[in-house]
Amino acid sequence: MRVRVRVNGAWRTAEVWPGASLLALLRDALGLCGSKNACEQGECGSCSVWLDGELVCACLVLAAQADGREVRTVEGLTTGEDLHPVQRAFVEAGAVQCGFCTPGFVVAVVDLLSRDPDPDEPRIREALSGNLCRCTGYQKILDAVRLAASKLGGSSP
Ligand code: FES
Ligand code: FES
Repeated sequence: MRVRVRVNGAWRTAEVWPGASLLALLRDALGLCGSKNACEQGECGSCSVWLDGELVCACLVLAAQADGREVRTVEGLTTGEDLHPVQRAFVEAGAVQCGFCTPGFVVAVVDLLSRDPDPDEPRIREALSGNLCRCTGYQKILDAVRLAASKLGGSSP
């Protein structure tokens, strides 16, 4: 079937099988491999994207459900060579090891800070509870969120 989706501001069209997920559409058909494919069960958050402004696990959404809608991926956060402030904070805080979970965390943190620019620790933990990391022990990720919040100084990411 043919699907047309507005991805990071540009309309894209692709042929997919009716059971294809939004994640498969993004990665396999459109070549946007920033969103990672780990569990394919909505458990790990590594495939997080925005669909019409709402954070979703792209592995749980059918490509067909995204037809005619707006998708924003981690690739949409950067301008040219410049990292997004949240991405910079992850690097500076040492919150990246293998990096497989990082795009999903970055998307979740941008989403959190857009709704709450100065979240307290329980709020951060709750917002990131759907994202799994097998490497960092999470402490440096929490540090990165605080650093990103201070870098942004209350402005929306
Ligand atoms: S791959 Fe989608 S939540 Fe894990
Ligand atoms: S840095 Fe490896 S899974 Fe998070």
